[in-house]
Amino acid sequence: MKMPVLLFACSALAAVIAATAGYSLAPRGSDRNPVERGRYLVTAMGCNDCHTPWHMGPNGPAPDMTRMLSGHPATIALPAAAKGTPEWPVQVSATNTAWSGPWGTSFTANLTPDPETGLGSWTADEFIAALRTGRHQGRGRQILPPMPYPMINKLDDADLKAVFAYLLSIPAIRNKVPEPLPPQAQ
Ligand code: HEC
Repeated sequence: MKMPVLLFACSALAAVIAATAGYSLAPRGSDRNPVERGRYLVTAMGCNDCHTPWHMGPNGPAPDMTRMLSGHPATIALPAAAKGTPEWPVQVSATNTAWSGPWGTSFTANLTPDPETGLGSWTADEFIAALRTGRHQGRGRQILPPMPYPMINKLDDADLKAVFAYLLSIPAIRNKVPEPLPPQAQ
């Protein structure tokens, strides 16, 4: 077989393999670059539901994406939540960022890369450890409800790293979220 013919035969064979095995050549979710993969996971897993303050939009309440993932706004002075009842134990603020229940009152964290008030000074290992252990940065106090870390920690390390890479890529917003408040006296 002459060289050009051989080359043609090889490239034709490659085209057939590519066409029949196309599904395995197309990039799968986990093959995306980490930031894109992280964006996909953060969007699909509802982090904006709690970590982006809600406001009244044209179609009703919705996350205010100008404050994307910046947590409970420090500028909002909330009155103390009313005492819950056994039937209705949990209350949530209009922004969906402050939650009161039997654990006290928790405020959603700033997940933007701001170094002082967000995740900017965290390492990927601290981020993964926080979600694996349910402790602040993997070593501090217990992370309170309704943060769904028992669900999020079902992601493998590569996906958690991708979530962290995406969070470090979004606009930094300076917003110092308050510390949680203890449960109200009974
Ligand atoms: C149902 C509401 C809710 C959802 C959904 C949610 N979070 Fe949270 N998250 C919280 C609350 C509330 C806190 C603060 C808890 C506290 O202060 O103990 C928190 C805290 C955190 C913290 C800080 C942990 C620490 O070590 O201090 C991280 C990181 C975090 N969330 C990441 C995420 C990511 C990533 C997602 C989406 C995959 C997500 N959260 C989805 C409510 C939520």
